[in-house]
Amino acid sequence: MNKIVIYPGSFDPVTRGHVEIIKRAAKMFDHVIVAVLVNSAKKPCFSTDERLDMLRLALGNIHNVEIASFEGLLANYCKERKADAVIRGLRAVTDFEYEFQMALTNKKLNPNLETIFLTADSDSMYLSSSMVREVASMGGDISNFVPACVCEKIAEHFGHND
Ligand code: PNS
Repeated sequence: MNKIVIYPGSFDPVTRGHVEIIKRAAKMFDHVIVAVLVNSAKKPCFSTDERLDMLRLALGNIHNVEIASFEGLLANYCKERKADAVIRGLRAVTDFEYEFQMALTNKKLNPNLETIFLTADSDSMYLSSSMVREVASMGGDISNFVPACVCEKIAEHFGHND
């Protein structure tokens, strides 16, 4: 049976940690939909198009990975896309409470939906998009945190492209 999973997130911007999770998910499932949340209350730093472009650049062509965007409830989007599960990365214990709450909420909204957690690898444990934004906005070197091909785009966004 074709197993479809959705890896949702803000991806504001994509980090090496996200890419690592997506590549592992692509080995485990038939189809992985990387789904960028459009209308985030968090007011993203990068536009939806910028976030999608950076994901496309970072992932290249992985035959079973689709990059998409969604609005509204994740549980509804999963129904619409006939997804069997949601994938989330877990970095540390601090992620757990929020992730647990989100998984249980999604399960109530869509009882067929499972949430599968993949542990971040040891090199990505500390990584977050917010940390990347902060370092980049102050002109710091983000090459250890994001795929090389998106470094320039992020620097440009913050006007540090010299
Ligand atoms: O990368 P993030 O910001 O941790 O991703 C959070 C995301 C996008 C997965 C979450 O905010 C989400 O699913 N939002 C859609 C709205 C929704 O379904 N809310 C109810 C469950 S939390």
